[in-house]
Amino acid sequence: MASIKDVAAAAGVSVATVSRVLNDHPSVSADARTRVRAAVEALGYRPNAVARSLRTHETRTLGLVISDVLNPYFAHLARSVEEEARALGYSVIIGNADERPDLQDHHVRTLLDRRIDGLLVSPTDGGSPLMLDAARAGTPMVFVDRWIAGVDVPVVRADGRAAVHDLVAHLYALGHRRLAIIAGPAATTTGSERVEAFRVAMGEYGLPLPDAYIGQGDFQAESGRRATERFLDLAEPPEVVFAADNLMALGALDAIRARGLRIPDDIALAAFDDIPWFVHTDPPITAIAQPTAELGRAAVHALVDRVEGRPPESVTLPARLVVRRSCGEPPVAQAPTAQPSPLQRSKS
Ligand code: HPA
Repeated sequence: MASIKDVAAAAGVSVATVSRVLNDHPSVSADARTRVRAAVEALGYRPNAVARSLRTHETRTLGLVISDVLNPYFAHLARSVEEEARALGYSVIIGNADERPDLQDHHVRTLLDRRIDGLLVSPTDGGSPLMLDAARAGTPMVFVDRWIAGVDVPVVRADGRAAVHDLVAHLYALGHRRLAIIAGPAATTTGSERVEAFRVAMGEYGLPLPDAYIGQGDFQAESGRRATERFLDLAEPPEVVFAADNLMALGALDAIRARGLRIPDDIALAAFDDIPWFVHTDPPITAIAQPTAELGRAAVHALVDRVEGRPPESVTLPARLVVRRSCGEPPVAQAPTAQPSPLQRSKS
């Protein structure tokens, strides 16, 4: 394999000049730049990233630890993170914690051992010891989607409260009064916030939320199926099931179909997180859409700012209601949707 010395010899310049060309340093003549590029091409030279990182103490690599890579929401988020990082000259190594704190710490340890420049984390279940230690020790870190209260790390997330309010308004306008929710784990911010937002919105419409109408899920399809079966076994089943993530909504869909019930005539269904195939189900599913790609981009920018010595920003973006037919036909042509509020940014 060609070395940097071979390139310098072939181009008739010094090794330092080759290095400047490779790093896009401006103080190189156009002629030398052309000759170096031609030599790199002709010799198939590939810079040694390991040698570079030993010299510069940076690896141009970010870690992304997500809670469940099989959840389409997180897959979409990871895609956006990788794209944006690549555009900024960074690679991404992804670790899937599978909602397990021990696996989360395994990935954090491995990534820190590899000397990543910074870490994006969507924390599992309230955090894990090593991840929290790393955050407190000042490792460049940004929380994305979920976060941990009391830990001084910038957070990039969506605020779904207005959209949940719009959903309840939509359901109320359709005449639904008995609404149930399948909640995510209370130890995650996304789990606790969504059920809280639902409770508050129902309160505003004077609707009770009895314990029997709160199903405890774990963001996986099976828990959505089980919670929905319990709802359907009640003496007075709910008229609507709102699943706090897309996988639990799929589980709910299974349970409803297994009983031969029709959506929305027998029971309505809505979901948090809009995924591409919600338009292909029959009927298409009403959902709360997060600006997932924007969240990924904003998270990378916050982390790269931190890595490169600029003050990182926490970012909160609004989610919005997407009305389809799974809760009934809207009584008016235009159903309510969340008003996108301007970006709320705060220095952290
Ligand atoms: N869990 C599952 N689905 C999600 C989450 C989450 O924390 N956030 C957005 N979609």
